[in-house]
Amino acid sequence: MAQKSLAELYGRHLQEVMARADRALIAGGYQGLIMCSGSQVYYYLDDSTYPFRPNPRYRAWLPDTSPDCFVVYRPGRRPKLVFTQPDDYWYLPPERPEGYWVGHFDLEIVRSPAELRKAAGRVRWAVLGEPGPATEGLGDYDPPAVTGPLDYSRAIKSPYEIECMALATVAGVRAHRAAEQAFRAGGSEYDIHLAYCRAAGAREEELPYNNIIGFDRHAAVLHYQVLDRERPAGVKSFLIDAGAQHAGYACDITRTYSAEPGDFQELVRAVDAAQQKLAARVLPGVDYRDIHLEAHRSIAGILVAHGIVSCTPEAAVETGLTSVFFPHGIGHLLGLMVHDASGFAAAPDGGTREKPAGHPYLRLTRDLEPGFAVTIEPGIYFIDSLLEAARADGRGRAIDWKRVEALRPFGGIRIEDNVVAQPGAPRNLTREAFAAAN
Ligand code: GLY
Ligand code: MN
Ligand code: MN
Repeated sequence: MAQKSLAELYGRHLQEVMARADRALIAGGYQGLIMCSGSQVYYYLDDSTYPFRPNPRYRAWLPDTSPDCFVVYRPGRRPKLVFTQPDDYWYLPPERPEGYWVGHFDLEIVRSPAELRKAAGRVRWAVLGEPGPATEGLGDYDPPAVTGPLDYSRAIKSPYEIECMALATVAGVRAHRAAEQAFRAGGSEYDIHLAYCRAAGAREEELPYNNIIGFDRHAAVLHYQVLDRERPAGVKSFLIDAGAQHAGYACDITRTYSAEPGDFQELVRAVDAAQQKLAARVLPGVDYRDIHLEAHRSIAGILVAHGIVSCTPEAAVETGLTSVFFPHGIGHLLGLMVHDASGFAAAPDGGTREKPAGHPYLRLTRDLEPGFAVTIEPGIYFIDSLLEAARADGRGRAIDWKRVEALRPFGGIRIEDNVVAQPGAPRNLTREAFAAAN
């Protein structure tokens, strides 16, 4: 969709962000909010910086990416953007902001973040960001009475945010297709990574997380981080978990490919079919924990059907055998952060929704509401340490070890889509983009 549509959607988004801020400020007893984009951080003992990533609580207001900038907001007034454009001939200062969103702010260009003090004035501020000299003494940093409700409500994405995520997905899917082509053409993990970045139109630091691109046994490492420069002979499988961003909003997509037809490809198909059924459950009112538990039942069915375990599916779930092969959560909230905020919040003002017993890695325990954007990412992996633990504690008696030995060289499978809860049927941003690209 063209920028014009984002322009149409942004105003309503900002109105909603301001309404949420008004409520949070009343709850916390503050007169105004200062959102800090953040400052660049230097490597230890060095004079170069880590890649800069703006504070997501700042980014919820506007798509700017510049350091040392501030949104200053008081209920009933237009938000002000204090935009730092330093006099600097070592680095290129950020350009004066332009675009569909700028007209919604009173723009104040300053040369130094210290000038925030003049722009802010003396009221009781809630300051959202890391402490720093520009904001010292202006108010309380990240007061939970304000951040709690703001983070909680961020789970519900506005139509503007969903459109940003759809645009991120279009870029991510374009890059996933380029990555598959590079794999089929004989590229190494590193070659595929470069093909991905080029197709996504992103330098590495602009991706929402480090690409996970693994062949064979590397696909059994959940967050595999090395990109081998050489492609080994006879590669059997390829797992890619990689995203893209638009205006700060992420997509988070995983696909797994078999080099040749055969048992592993059938297993990929089975996980893909199960994934689509689970994605169809992303509906308002559904407890996300139930989708996670349903995923274990699905995985159990696949393990039995493919001769990997010999017990019943029910026993595989009850004994924790499914966690040997599927040791992570079914997914998480997605947005300005890949693992977006407030996945465990019981209410805007606090409390925690517990994870199901025996499922420590689930990252979302809330009931879904319209506008929640989540991932659905089931997997089956052959991870040596977990298999050995199962062998040692008796669960291994129900494992067909010959079958595991045959599949182990393929590493593992994960299929991950990004899905928006809405009444009727969910919107699967990932499948939609793959279908449009075909
Ligand atoms: N790419 C990280 C995740 O899927 O959660
Ligand atoms: Mn994910
Ligand atoms: Mn992922």
